Amino acid sequence: MKFLLDTADVEDIKRICAMVPVDGVTTNPGIVAASGKSVFDLLPAIRDAMGGKGMLLAQVISPTVEGMIKDAHTLTSRVENLIVKVPVTPNGLVAIKELTKEGIPTLGTSIYGAAQGFMAALAGAKYLSPYVSRIDAQGGNGPETVKELQSLISQHKPDVEIVNASFKSPRQALECMMIGSAGITLPPSIFDLFIADPAVLAAVTEFGNQWFKAFNRHTLD
Ligand code: E4P
Repeated sequence: MKFLLDTADVEDIKRICAMVPVDGVTTNPGIVAASGKSVFDLLPAIRDAMGGKGMLLAQVISPTVEGMIKDAHTLTSRVENLIVKVPVTPNGLVAIKELTKEGIPTLGTSIYGAAQGFMAALAGAKYLSPYVSRIDAQGGNGPETVKELQSLISQHKPDVEIVNASFKSPRQALECMMIGSAGITLPPSIFDLFIADPAVLAAVTEFGNQWFKAFNRHTLD
């Protein structure tokens, strides 16, 4: 499974890269806007934080076909090996199809339904991001939508991978990781919650205290 981070915080990226292999970083217009930095300064800094390698994704801003294609050209001409996120709207599908013809890799984003996501696969997207928590928040079932999309891909086998996105709880993320899709992108806050059970620290402290009581030191020898 590809494991990506959904953030523009370079310190979080470095911190998490030191713990587990990170296959890439996704950003979106909200994440970039919140950083207060230029996307053209931010993206190279993110790549540096990943040690100069890994997938890097940034999203087009314009809602029109021409604008999306122009944004994709601008982004890819200024940042090497960028994967362009394109919302799966009617205009987005046209842009994905055109960019695919040009050899620019795309990720279909803002996916709320399996059939919608599959259309982006047919248009040529290399990656698809269903918005799991946002689907849940509007009364749908995010993990179920991911299963449906995965089933369409497995049956029809287009050359595409799911990168599950939009998580507000570790449970949502875990459920999607168990479905077996190709990848997931997580905010650092959700990664931190995977390893934040207070019982872990309690167990480690208990063993440390037992050791100290017996040997009067906190070291092995
Ligand atoms: C995907 O890469 C998007 O950036 C993202 O997951 C949207 O997530 P949000 O619902 O947390 O804003």
